[in-house]
Amino acid sequence: MSTRVYVFDTTLRDGEQSPGVRLSLDEKLEIGHQLVRLGVDIIEAGFPISSPGDFESVHTLATELKGVTICGLTRARQKDIEVAAEALKPAERRRIHTGLGVSENHLVNKLRMTKEVALETGVNAVKCARQFTDDIEYFMEDSGRADLDYVYKVVEEVIKAGATVINVPDTTGFTYPTEYYGLMKGIMDNVPNIDKAILSCHCHNDLGMATANTLSGVLGGARQVEVTVNGIGERAGNTALEEVVMAMYIRRDKFDMATRIDTTQLLYTSQMVSRLTGMMIQRNKAVVGANAYAHSSGIHQDGVLKDRSTYEIIDPSLVGALKSEIILTARSGRHGLKHRLQELGYEFTPERFEQIYAKFLELADTVKEVGDDHLRELVAS
Ligand code: KIV
Ligand code: ZN
Repeated sequence: MSTRVYVFDTTLRDGEQSPGVRLSLDEKLEIGHQLVRLGVDIIEAGFPISSPGDFESVHTLATELKGVTICGLTRARQKDIEVAAEALKPAERRRIHTGLGVSENHLVNKLRMTKEVALETGVNAVKCARQFTDDIEYFMEDSGRADLDYVYKVVEEVIKAGATVINVPDTTGFTYPTEYYGLMKGIMDNVPNIDKAILSCHCHNDLGMATANTLSGVLGGARQVEVTVNGIGERAGNTALEEVVMAMYIRRDKFDMATRIDTTQLLYTSQMVSRLTGMMIQRNKAVVGANAYAHSSGIHQDGVLKDRSTYEIIDPSLVGALKSEIILTARSGRHGLKHRLQELGYEFTPERFEQIYAKFLELADTVKEVGDDHLRELVAS
C-alpha cells in the first residue's frame, strides 16, 4: 500500500498574506467548504491573535467545517497560544501551529535572541500548547538558511516537549531541491526521536523552486506538504497544491505515496480561489492554467489528434477539465482545421477543403486565434 502524504492547506493563512488579497468571512467559508470537498487533511484557517476578524474566521471555520483538522498559527507566546486555543475550541479536530526562527539571520536581526533562549522559548511554547490539544505543529522559520546542528537540536527538544509535526520552512525560497532533500534527510538521520513526529515541507517560490523543493522534501522523508491553491502567498507565493498533488500522482513511479485529494475538484477549486482573491491564474500555469490542455501548433495538433499521449501527460478530465482544446492559429495545420470543422458539422471534398485551408491561413495571419464564428464565415464565403 502507498504511504500516505498529508495535505496541509494554508490558502486562508499564508495565501491570504498575498499583497492585495483580503477575504471576507463568507469568502473564507466558501473556500473552506471547497477545500473539504477537495479532500485536504488540515486547513490553516488563520492567525487568531492577529486581528478580531482573523479570530472570528478561525472560530467560524472551526465550528462549520467537519471531517478536517482546523489549525491556527501563533508566535511562540503564551497569549497567542491561548487565543488560538479559544478560536479553535469548536473544531472536531484542532491543531496549534507555533514556533520561531532558527537561522542566524532571524535570531540576530529579528528575534534578537541567542540560540539557547530561542530554543527554550520554543520548548515552552510547545508545553503551553499541549494544555489545549495534543496535535501540535512546530515551525522552524527560515530553516532553509539555518545551521543544521542547531536545527537537529531544536527538532529533538520540541518533540520531547510534545510536538507531533515538525514544519521545516524554506521561508525565503532560498534553497534548491537537493539541499532541501538533504535538510529533511539530515533530520530523519540525525534526530533520535524523529519517529515520534511527522516532518512537513513548507516552501516559498522566490526562485521558482517551491514545488520542486516540496517534492524533494517528500523524497527526503517528509509526510506532510504545506501548500496553497494556485500557489498564492507572500511575495512570489507558496508551493501550489495542484502542482504537488498532480506531480506525485503522474510520477507515481517515483513517489509510492498517496494523498486523499479528489483531483477532479482541482480546476474548480483553483477558479474559485482566483475569483474570490482577485488573483488571476496565468494562462500557462501548470495543471490549472487556461493553456494547460490547449494545443496550437500544427505538429502538436496532429500528434494529439492521433493519440493524446503524444503531447499530454495529464488527462484533463483528471483535474476536472472537460477535454483538451485545439486552438486554431497561423501555426495550425490541416489536421487541426479538419477536426474542428468536423466538430462543427462540416464535411468537404479534398479540393474544397484545400480552398478553405488557404483562406484559413490568410485569415489566421491577421488574428490571434481563429474562432468558430470565423470558420463559419469562411465556409459561407
Ligand atoms: O514561511 C514561513 O516560515 C511561515 C511560517 C510562519 C510557518 O509561513
Ligand atoms: Zn510561509
